[in-house]
Amino acid sequence: MSLLNDRIVESIATTGCYVGDSILDAALVIALRGRLLVLQARQGLVAAQVGRATSLTSTTELRGDSIAWLDENALAPAESRAMELINRLRAALNEALYIGAIDTECHYARYPIGAFYKTHLDRFGTHDLRVVSLIFYLNARWQDHHGGELLIHHQSNKSIERVQPRCGTMVAFLSARFPHEVLPATRPRLSLSGWMRRRALVGQ
Ligand code: OGA
Ligand code: MN
Repeated sequence: MSLLNDRIVESIATTGCYVGDSILDAALVIALRGRLLVLQARQGLVAAQVGRATSLTSTTELRGDSIAWLDENALAPAESRAMELINRLRAALNEALYIGAIDTECHYARYPIGAFYKTHLDRFGTHDLRVVSLIFYLNARWQDHHGGELLIHHQSNKSIERVQPRCGTMVAFLSARFPHEVLPATRPRLSLSGWMRRRALVGQ
């Protein structure tokens, strides 16, 4: 098991949240970023939806990003490699914390200039199977004044953690526990997000 995975597991075990070095190396992040840009050029990104939202208007008031889900059966080489590394982390989390995550769903996200995602939980309703949320930033040369921070609300000590969406940084947290929001940025903001999911119980 990798030292970095150990650190992430330790942080999730103690605080429920990890912000730090990414399990995806620099070359991989560049390849994923390239893939997102190709998808965008081919109009492969679609306006994101929100579980609870009932109309298009209520969705766009909540979030302004466009997304593309990774298709498990048609992964580009960089995506296969990323899934391999994410699955290793999932195995480490399962082993240490018994979270029972059986797979990971991932999508690219692009926030145009000025777009945001208001405070939310990554679980919509009690039947949601998401256990761990992941975010990998794909933004080269991001400066603090570009904005676009992720704010993570730590309810246990009422603090707010601010994360710059810089490539090389990743975020992981227990999906049910941390309300979070994305602030508007002065340039397009790119990421790959993932959710580790547990198996549905009988009747769910
Ligand atoms: C999400 C999300 C945060 C970020 O996609 O659900 O909260 O920093 N993303 O991109
Ligand atoms: Mn979220």
